[in-house]
Amino acid sequence: MAGVLIDRVTKIYPGNVLAVDDASIEVEDKEFLVLVGPSGCGKSTLLRMIAGLEEISRGTISIGDRVVNDVAPKDRDIAMVFQNYALYPHMTVYKNLAYGLQLRRLARSEIDRRVRWAAQILGIEDLLDRKPKALSGGQRQRVAVGRAIVRQPQVFLFDEPLSNLDAKLRVQMRAEIAKLHARLESTMIYVTHDQVEAMTLGNRIAVIQGGAVQQIDAPLAIYDRPANRFVAGFIGSPPMNFFEGRLASENGSLCFEQEGFRVRLDGKIPSLSARSGQDIVLGIRPEHISDARGRPDPGAGREVRARVDVVEPMGAEVYVHLVAGGTTFVARFDSHSPARPEEEIPVVFDVTRAHFFDAKTGAALA
Ligand SMILES: Nc1ncnc2c1ncn2[C@@H]1O[C@H](COP(=O)(O)OP(=O)(O)OP(=O)(O)O)[C@@H](O)[C@H]1O
Ligand SMILES: [Mg+2]
Repeated sequence: MAGVLIDRVTKIYPGNVLAVDDASIEVEDKEFLVLVGPSGCGKSTLLRMIAGLEEISRGTISIGDRVVNDVAPKDRDIAMVFQNYALYPHMTVYKNLAYGLQLRRLARSEIDRRVRWAAQILGIEDLLDRKPKALSGGQRQRVAVGRAIVRQPQVFLFDEPLSNLDAKLRVQMRAEIAKLHARLESTMIYVTHDQVEAMTLGNRIAVIQGGAVQQIDAPLAIYDRPANRFVAGFIGSPPMNFFEGRLASENGSLCFEQEGFRVRLDGKIPSLSARSGQDIVLGIRPEHISDARGRPDPGAGREVRARVDVVEPMGAEVYVHLVAGGTTFVARFDSHSPARPEEEIPVVFDVTRAHFFDAKTGAALA
C-alpha cells in the first residue's frame, strides 16, 4: 500500500491550455480522497497524470516513496476505472477479469484465484460466463471495477465511474464502492463532479476550480467552513445563498444591509466590526433560514420580509424560493409549510451559522 504525493503539479496542453495549475495534494496511505469540481476544471487531467497517461509539465508525483514522473503506466502499480467501462465485448466476464493478469504472465492458478475472489467481492460469480452485452449497466460497472481489483494495486484511480448509471443504481454502487474501500483498505482517488458523491465517499475532499486546488479537508469541515465563495457555493444542495451588500452599524450593533433589507448580526464575530462600512458577501445555507411565523420567538429586528416566488415540494421537505431586496434565495422548510407563491412572509436568518466573504477576492472571513 502507498500514499500519493502531488507536489506543485502543473499541466499545460498544446495550444497553451492551462489544465492543472500548481496543484499540491498529499493523499495518505489507505485514504479515500475525492477530487471534485465543475466540468473542465482539470480533474481527469490530474488523475491521468497520476496514472501516467498524461505527461506532467511541471512538478512531481510520487507513489509511495518513488517519484513516478518518468515511470511507465504499467510499472506504477495503479489500476484505473474509467467512466466508459471499456470492457472487451468479445470476451466473457471471466476473460475480461483475467486478461490483464495473463498479460502480466501470472500463473493460471493465481489468475483463477484472483478472478474468483474479485467476483465474490462484487457479487458477480454467476455472471462469469456471460459476455458484456448480456449484462446490465450496473453489472458492467462491477466488471470494470473487478478488472481493477484483480490487479491488487497500491492505488486505485476512479474517473466518474458511476456517471453512466441511472440515479437509483448510482446510489447503490456508491455504497458498494464505500464498502469496497473498507474491505480492501487501499488508497483510492476518486474523481466526480457530483458533490453528493464527494461528501458521502471521501475521507477527504479536494475541491478544484480552474485547475487550482481551492480547499482540501474532511467533507463536513468543508461544508461547515468553506475557504471561499466558490467552495461554499459548490458543496451543498440546494447551494448556499449569497447576498451582496455592506456592513453597517445600527445603535451600536453590527448589521448586514442590502437595498431593501437589513439583518442584525447579534453576537457575530468581533473581527467583522473592523469592516463596518465595507462591502461584503453574506452566505447562508437554505437550512438556516426559517419561517418566522412558525417560531415561538421571531426575534425582533432580525426578521426579513420576503416574497415567495416558487414552492418546490420534495416530499420530506419543501424548497421555497424567496425574493428580498435584489436577491433571490432558497430556504428549506418543513414539508407542511404554509408558504404559498406571491405571498409575503417574514423569515429569520440564523446569523450564527452565516458565512462572510470578501466582496473582491471571495475569501472567507474568519
Ligand atoms: N488533450 C487535450 N488537449 C488540449 N486541452 C485539453 C486536452 N484534454 C483536456 N483539455 C482541456 O483541459 C481542461 C481540463 O480538462 P479535464 O478533462 O481534466 O477536465 P475535467 O475536470 O475532467 O472535466 P469533466 O468533468 O468534464 O470530465 C479543459 O479545459 C479541457 O478542455
Ligand atoms: Mg473528466
